[in-house]
Amino acid sequence: AIALGVLASGNGSNFEALAQAITADQLQAEIRLLIYNNPDAYVRQRAERLGIPALLLDHRQFASREDLDQAIITAFRNRGVEWIAMAGWMRLVTETLIQAFPERIINIHPSLLPSFKGIRAVEQAIAAKVRISGCTAHLVTLDVDSGPILVQAAVPVLPDDTVDSLQQRIQVEEHKILPLAIALAAARSPLPV
Ligand code: GAR
Repeated sequence: AIALGVLASGNGSNFEALAQAITADQLQAEIRLLIYNNPDAYVRQRAERLGIPALLLDHRQFASREDLDQAIITAFRNRGVEWIAMAGWMRLVTETLIQAFPERIINIHPSLLPSFKGIRAVEQAIAAKVRISGCTAHLVTLDVDSGPILVQAAVPVLPDDTVDSLQQRIQVEEHKILPLAIALAAARSPLPV
């Protein structure tokens, strides 16, 4: 099974979708640890309900991004984590983390990359009046939202859409493609035995 670590900042619906995909045998993985950075993130309650170990690493308690990333590396290494899923992780990561898990960090982003990188991607899509948007699962590199694409899914943008309604439509697809992307990446790039 893939030893998975999850990084999340907020609601955690993608985290729960990963846990469900594992339970449903769609993803041969085990979530070894959830790390979250906001004390009141709802994802903490999901982890508790699912019986998955969770660790708060509040970025406000660290002097630099590197220091936070170093703490993430230590916590994941202690749990034997081999692959990392960024499931709504709203912090920029540094070379420190990327080099510790080279080509083994997967991010889910709520747009069809390379369109609408960065924050508020759903808002950006509405403002640009595109008729199709979606989500992208990709490998994380230093360049934000620019690493190799693993899986994408498209959804229509409807005339009456708000950020909320479009985001909901996109998230249905995120919950499918994030587990799929992890399975694909791990199959393509198995760890040396
Ligand atoms: C997801 O839609 C994810 O694509 C997005 O945050 C949401 C988290 O939802 N990520 C980014 O915008 C990264 N820049 P969740 O907490 O319910 O999984």
